[in-house]
Amino acid sequence: MGAVTVVQAAEKEIYALGEIPPLGFVPKKMLASVIRPERFGPPKDAFQIEEIDVPTPGPRQVLVYVMAAGTNYNNVWAALGFPVNVIAARQRQGATEDFHIGGSDASGVVWAVGSEVKNVKVGDEVVLSCGMWDEDAPDIKAGKDPMMSSTNKVWGYEENWGSFAQFTLVDHYQCFPKPKHLSWEAASAYMLVGATAYRMLMHWEPNVVHENEPVLIWGGAGGLGSMAIQITKAAGGIPIAVVSEENKVEFCLQLGAKGVINRKDPAFTHWGRLPDVDDAEAFNKWMQGARAFGAKYWEVLGERRNPAIVFDHPGEATIPTSIFMVDNGGMVVICAGTSGYNADVDLRYLWMRQKRLQGSHFASTEECAALNQLVIDGKVDPCLGEVYGFDGVGLSHQAMYENRAVGNMAILVNAREKGLTTLPA
Ligand SMILES: NC(=O)c1ccc[n+]([C@@H]2O[C@H](COP(=O)([O-])OP(=O)(O)OC[C@H]3O[C@@H](n4cnc5c(N)ncnc54)[C@H](OP(=O)(O)O)[C@@H]3O)[C@@H](O)[C@H]2O)c1
Repeated sequence: MGAVTVVQAAEKEIYALGEIPPLGFVPKKMLASVIRPERFGPPKDAFQIEEIDVPTPGPRQVLVYVMAAGTNYNNVWAALGFPVNVIAARQRQGATEDFHIGGSDASGVVWAVGSEVKNVKVGDEVVLSCGMWDEDAPDIKAGKDPMMSSTNKVWGYEENWGSFAQFTLVDHYQCFPKPKHLSWEAASAYMLVGATAYRMLMHWEPNVVHENEPVLIWGGAGGLGSMAIQITKAAGGIPIAVVSEENKVEFCLQLGAKGVINRKDPAFTHWGRLPDVDDAEAFNKWMQGARAFGAKYWEVLGERRNPAIVFDHPGEATIPTSIFMVDNGGMVVICAGTSGYNADVDLRYLWMRQKRLQGSHFASTEECAALNQLVIDGKVDPCLGEVYGFDGVGLSHQAMYENRAVGNMAILVNAREKGLTTLPA
């Protein structure tokens, strides 16, 4: 273990939420909202507040005093214990903890640093990114993008010690400057979805957002979608958003969408897996729904031009439509399969029209920094939605599970009220 910067002697073993310890003093225990295997199930019941030992940073690690934490879909999966039991998966790799502290987004204050940490110091106010990897891994040493490394993991999901706790443990490169104008809760809400959307839209050359080119964005009022609209707009593209309720339309327009499609329009009957091409009747019916969706897209765009990029994450429900919709030589980029993993691709469209189906996962350090700069510059708003207290970790994930959330939700951890932007003196 590396040296830990402790600037004051121990006073208390555990502090109440918001009862701030002396800067740099690390108590023995902390409050954490914990998932255990016996509670796997609907998120509202899976999380419980417990007292847990505060972890000690290794040489290149940073202990952060969490002011607020962001809610993400990955801890809906962690709560369900599906498709992966993250606790058992870690134990198979040698971890001893029999619990999961989730939370892959946070804002907070650097409280202790390992002996080799140079980029941050105790007292720095930071936001955290969730990409973790072994900097000494041979593939990374050989120059591979760490997001492609076999050691790549998501903090607060695949890795333990996430942000639903008074203290969280991260690697040094996960720390970025907190935008000073944002409250703790707003600052905790955007990095995971923002940086993921940034990579999806800006990494996969030559299929990146270009000036005046349309981008079709599923779930425009959701976490990823709200970021994608703003990033597309900031890069000069034309965002067209899809939503399922009329009350989300204005939200997307305010963010910069040129037009919005309600996917619940009864003319669209074609969601989900493709019928077999030999079943002419079913296939024609599918095509009818897809063409109606395409016509609506042209209508809201105001011209007959297909999207250069389709930004997908629902997966099974949407991929056939995304492949149908994307322009010749365009890209469907996908980072999830929320509605299912068996997505059908009509290969005739893929090869004849030279379309690209590209997987994408979170973001590199550089992409996180670029996204963070867009937020610092006011070009991307975190789209903070509902804010919960620390006892609301389960409820916020339940709202996400039931598709009731708009924008990005946050949880107050050590910040005891909304609107605070810095650590009280
Ligand atoms: N790989 C990565 O790095 C990464 C990063 C972030 C998130 N993810 C994953 O991406 C997914 C979305 O995350 P999020 O934070 O954006 O979630 P979110 O805030 O819940 O938003 C998802 C949006 O998807 C839309 N949607 C839901 N079911 C749909 C369906 N059947 N067809 C079309 N649209 C549908 C909903 O919008 P409407 O109902 O209004 O259409 C909803 O607003 C999750 O599975 C998450 O785990 C992956």
